[in-house]
Amino acid sequence: MIVELRDVEVTYAHRKIITGLSKEFKEGVYVIIGHNGAGKTTLLKTIAGIVKPNRGMVLVDGVNIVKASRREAAKLVGYVWQNPYYGFVEPRVIDELSLILRLTGLKGEWGIVELLIGPELYYRNPFTLSGGEAKKVSIASVLIADQPVWLLDEPFDYLDGEGVRAVMKLISYGRQRNKVIIVATVNIGFINALRPDLVIVMRRGSIVHEALYHELSEAVLNDNNVPPRDLLCG
Ligand SMILES: Nc1ncnc2c1ncn2[C@@H]1O[C@H](COP(=O)(O)OP(=O)(O)O)[C@@H](O)[C@H]1O
Ligand SMILES: [Mg+2]
Repeated sequence: MIVELRDVEVTYAHRKIITGLSKEFKEGVYVIIGHNGAGKTTLLKTIAGIVKPNRGMVLVDGVNIVKASRREAAKLVGYVWQNPYYGFVEPRVIDELSLILRLTGLKGEWGIVELLIGPELYYRNPFTLSGGEAKKVSIASVLIADQPVWLLDEPFDYLDGEGVRAVMKLISYGRQRNKVIIVATVNIGFINALRPDLVIVMRRGSIVHEALYHELSEAVLNDNNVPPRDLLCG
């Protein structure tokens, strides 16, 4: 399984947001950091086929995601919104969980759901959930399809310590199952626990730096307007 971006350019209202980016993501865990507006979310949405590039190619396991149907793309790539409420369309959590299974025709991996939420939430209206509950439901309702590629946009937002641990467990589970997992975050405090294979620094729509976490220098982190590691990591 390889996610391959070839010379991808994304423009919003004549402004270049992703500027000719090429990169291969193999099985493993990647963390993309970078200041607000660097283009992290746009990059994830482009890999998911939600945002169409005006130039370049995105191949997921050889499938051109730009031309793929919604169904085909959803089977390959799970994109979890930063804001959990954006994705909700159903009246009950249980319907939210089965929506992607109806779309893709997959049977679903309920073990993924169980890592995040219990059945006591199944009959709740998703819009009445607390931020943390909603975040876990939104992650579960996308990744239940057990796609080979998981894109997590600020997955630790809204979560308490227990929620963060649940998401860390989920990521370990995905890593063991050889998925391509890309986490976008401004919060480098979670990187130590994630133990990513690679940290990617984005700036103004480009990748400006790549390193193993322990190789990332303070200067690079500060330069990219992410809080210094000593403020966030114990
Ligand atoms: N639909 C859109 N229309 C216009 N500009 C957008 C749209 N989505 C994002 N942007 C702009 O693109 C830039 C990159 O945004 P984003 O990818 O969300 O960055 P990040 O996730 O790194 O904070 C920002 O300046 C943002 O305001
Ligand atoms: Mg973002």
